[in-house]
Amino acid sequence: MYKLFALLFSLACIICARSGTIAVAARPPLTFDHDVAPIVFQYCAECHRPGESTPFSLLTYKDVRTHARQIAAVTRSRYMPPWLPIRGPLPFAAEMRLSDAQIAVFQKWIDDGLLEGKPADLPSAPHFTPGWQLGPPDLVIQAQKPVPANRIGPRYVLELRFAGSR
Ligand code: HEC
Repeated sequence: MYKLFALLFSLACIICARSGTIAVAARPPLTFDHDVAPIVFQYCAECHRPGESTPFSLLTYKDVRTHARQIAAVTRSRYMPPWLPIRGPLPFAAEMRLSDAQIAVFQKWIDDGLLEGKPADLPSAPHFTPGWQLGPPDLVIQAQKPVPANRIGPRYVLELRFAGSR
């Protein structure tokens, strides 16, 4: 009985010691260039860049560091990136849903001291087509007078006058 206890005790010690070493050795501090930028460029920059209807850009280390705590909160609550489809049996192409591991990156980066990292690790900045993303539309309708956004609803009527059929 004593031997069994001693064996279990030493096994437990080995496991403790091992997991202790693993935790220290396998977690170098996260950096913007290596860990945060790939997520932000893929999932946020499309809307968070100049010319879009977002309150600030998320394209550089400075941009993201300034909003780091807010970003950790809105990704944790899954408010950002906005992605409404519920998880189904088949994934959507180009899903804008962050994984739990990606969400955790923001908090770990804060805990590690918001490091910038090495420029060599930084992915190339995303490129976006300015203006219409699907090419110019066939028809652009201009309201006759400015319409306050809170009045747009099912009862707002736009008069369209076409010269000929379309
Ligand atoms: C489809 C466009 C879109 C994408 C993609 C997107 N955002 Fe946003 N974001 C918005 C808009 C629009 C607002 C302003 C309106 C609002 O707060 O809902 C906003 C607001 C925010 C805010 C401010 C929230 C507040 O409470 O004031 C934060 C922080 C943010 N986004 C972070 C992110 C992060 C981080 C990502 C990527 C992981 C992301 N967003 C992806 C459109 C987007």
